[in-house]
Amino acid sequence: MTQDEMKKAVGWAALEYVMPGTLVGVGTGSTASHFIYALGSIKHQIEGAVSSSDASTAKLKSLGIPVFDSNEVDSLDIYVDGADEINSYMQMIKGGGAALTREKVIAAIARKFICIVDANKQVDVLGKFPLPVEVIPMARSYVARELVKLGGLPEYRQNVVTDNGNVILDVHNLIITDAVALENQVNDIAGVVTVGLFANRCADVALVGTQDGVKVIV
Ligand code: A5P
Repeated sequence: MTQDEMKKAVGWAALEYVMPGTLVGVGTGSTASHFIYALGSIKHQIEGAVSSSDASTAKLKSLGIPVFDSNEVDSLDIYVDGADEINSYMQMIKGGGAALTREKVIAAIARKFICIVDANKQVDVLGKFPLPVEVIPMARSYVARELVKLGGLPEYRQNVVTDNGNVILDVHNLIITDAVALENQVNDIAGVVTVGLFANRCADVALVGTQDGVKVIV
């Protein structure tokens, strides 16, 4: 099975967690795209979706799935999204697709976070994938210097502006043994909008695409 076939398998497997008549939180990226297409197949059974990016909104709308503003909803049953890395504590690095801020907001609104990944995303220790940090543009250099003090090597993601009008620093060289502490430390730097560490709010269920099928971790 290719990596994309594993992503597709978990995207479709996530349908099992979608309750009829509900609003579904929808993530961003290639794995989440498979879920969006799967959701399209049951669009008449759901109320609609709340989306984590302009790109996912466009895909949802193209399939005829109503998209609701997150300000209009009090809570969501589930949020389904991919990750760049996930460890055995269900903590994740996210933001490879630059949608981390809206992803974190929707994850916070949702009661259950269903993480859909292929087996390549499973790690013992987070940090090999550069940690994305969304920053307001005028704070970029200051935040980069602060991230160096934390042991990271920040790299400005060229030619990327987030849906919120901000920029991304990808932080290399991190070995994240205390993800909660690092998430809090980076969040505390002035000018940081969001860090792509999902440790305070980690996944509740992980659907992992493997050569032997979809593995469910709770
Ligand atoms: C988007 O900003 C990310 O958080 C994605 O969920 C993550 O990058 C995984 O993307 P893929 O599903 O494309 O690997």
